[in-house]
Order: sequence, then C-alpha cells, then structure tokens
Amino acid sequence: MKDNILILAIESSCDETAAAIVENGRNVLSNIISSQIEIHKQFGGVVPEVASRKHIENINQVVQEALIEANITHNEIDAIAVTYGPGLVGALLVGINFAKGLSYAWEKPLIGVNHIEGHICANYIENKTLRPPYICLVVSGGHTDLVYVKDYGEYEIMGKTRDDAAGEAYDKIARAIGFGYPGGPLIDKAAKMGNKEAIKFPRVVIDDDTLDFSFSGLKSAVLNYIHNNEQKNIAVIPEDIAASFQEAVVEVLVYKTMKAAKLKKCKTIVLAGGVASNSRLRELMQKESTKHNYEFTKPSSIFCTDNGAMIGSAGYYKYLKSEFANSSLNATPNLKLAK
Ligand code: KG4
Ligand code: ZN
Repeated sequence: MKDNILILAIESSCDETAAAIVENGRNVLSNIISSQIEIHKQFGGVVPEVASRKHIENINQVVQEALIEANITHNEIDAIAVTYGPGLVGALLVGINFAKGLSYAWEKPLIGVNHIEGHICANYIENKTLRPPYICLVVSGGHTDLVYVKDYGEYEIMGKTRDDAAGEAYDKIARAIGFGYPGGPLIDKAAKMGNKEAIKFPRVVIDDDTLDFSFSGLKSAVLNYIHNNEQKNIAVIPEDIAASFQEAVVEVLVYKTMKAAKLKKCKTIVLAGGVASNSRLRELMQKESTKHNYEFTKPSSIFCTDNGAMIGSAGYYKYLKSEFANSSLNATPNLKLAK
C-alpha cells in the first residue's frame, strides 16, 4: 500500500454541506464547510426539506473547493468517504448520491461513515498521538453517548441519554430564554456574564447503577422557573439562567464521564460533537481529568461541530480495513455506533 492515503470526505447529514481532503486520517489538506445556519435561523431550527435543497445547490461547489484548496486533482484521491447516518434522510441522500456518482465516474472506492464515529475521530486530527483505548463523551444536537473506544472502529456504548440530547436541551432552553438558533453557543456566551450559582437547578444523575443521562427534568425545571417568574411579573436574568442551566448540564456530563473512566480503568478522556466546544464543559472536564491524573483531549471548535475532515479521518481507518461500500449504500437515519 502507498504510504500517503488521500481521502475525499463528504458530510451532509444535517445543516452543513461539507467536504475535506484528509491524508492518513490525521492531516487535513482542506476542510470546506458551507453552513445553512443563517437560513434555518429564521425558522428556529433545521427544516429538513430546506436542508436537502440547500445541500443539492452547494455540494458540487464545496467538493470542488476542497480539491482546489488541497491543491490536488481527483486522480490523486484513494477513496471517497461519505456520511450515511445517523441524520436527516433527505440530507444524507444528497451526500451519498453525490459520492456514489464520483466513485463511479472516477473509479475510486466508496466508504460509508457513521457520523458519530466521525465526531469521535475528529480528535485524531490535532492530537497526533491519540490512540485507543479511551473514553469519549459524544455530545451533539442529536446524541449524548458515553463511548468506550476499545480500538479503531470498535465501540462500546456505556451510557446514553434517555430523552433529550445535550445539544437539544441547550437549543430548547435558548429558545425559552429568547436567544436565537443554534442556542448552544449563545448560552455558552451569555453564561460567561451570569452567576452559575444564582439558581439551583436539579442535577439529574438518574441513579448510580447507570451511566445513562436524562435532560428532560432539567429542561422542565428551567421552563417552570421562567414561567413562574413571568406569572409573578418578576424579571429574570437571562445570563444567570444560562449559567445555572449550563452548570447543571456540565456537572452531570463530567461526573458520568469520570465514572466511566474509573469503571474501565482508562486514563484517557476525549470529547466530541458540537457541545464539545462548550467552554465550561472543556474547563470542568480538564479540571477533573487533572485531578484524577487522566489525559484529556478535545478538538478545536471547528472540528467539534459538523465538518468533512472528521469523516475523512474515520474513513481512513475503514480504508485500512478494506471496509468498502458498494452502490447499494443507502441513508440510514437511525444508524447505531454499536449494539
Ligand atoms: O455536532 P453538531 O454540529 O451537529 C449534530 O450532529 O447534532 O452539534 C450541534 C449542537 C447544537 O445543538 C448546538 O447548539 C450545540 O451543538 N453547540 C453547543 C456549542 N456549540 C454548538 N452547545 C453548547 N455550547 C457550545 N459552545
Ligand atoms: Zn454532528
């Protein structure tokens, strides 16, 4: 096998049309992201039909830009990796069909990548020495999973959310406070100006026998707090709500991650997904990791939220195992990382 494997990666599972060229799973030659946030903002969330249409409009340009920025031609590519789930079915199909077309026309192998696996692999891009095993907390708009990464491509789900995902809770609370979409970054920013001890919201750990999460109780507590004050005509301080809500989420996420590491006697902690760019989560996870003598790694913000480079990294490790897809590759909206 040649010693530099170049993967063209395509991601279109939600509201970013993205493409990247990644060398040997860790070296990003280009990472083009066309975000639809400005369009979906006016609706307060992602509108699936609009997302699919925008992906169709943008994908060709995004892939061309990825090749140009990497300064390579399609002949130099070794494989095409594409997200095939989980995500919005119509959105996924745009990327998959485009990747299939390129794979056929350019005679390059096709690789189907799980979006969550992509988020996890985003960590290999900047931390060149990171290797399994490690504990990864995946926190995104659709997922909250505590994953034991045994080896490349080998995952054990140790805990997951029983209701809302962490990012979903952030987005819903942001809407209730009157912030825009997506709410996560806005709550993060507002929380910096608020008092995290102002309101004592519940820390829902369910019970100590499980590493599962639940955020619906916390969400109700915040909504009740806002409505009760509204009814009494008492002005609330959005920054304090943001900071107090965030602290309740982050404390539970960090607590369960430390517990997972202890259970597996694993000394490396990793963060992944859009919420992994949250400043308080990063700060508290670092603090607790240092306290327990664990190594802690997280991607830069640009590799936390959806991007093509993470799919290129995950695709590389599948390439090494010759895990190729064929033309029957289909969108799998509820694709699981492991049983
Ligand atoms: O991974 P991602 O880009 O898309 C999914 O796969 O879902 O994650 C998007 C989620 C949104 O819910 C967004 O509000 C949240 O990540 N998010 C954040 C921050 N940045 C993005 N949540 C909290 N703090 C942030 N700084
Ligand atoms: Zn994502």
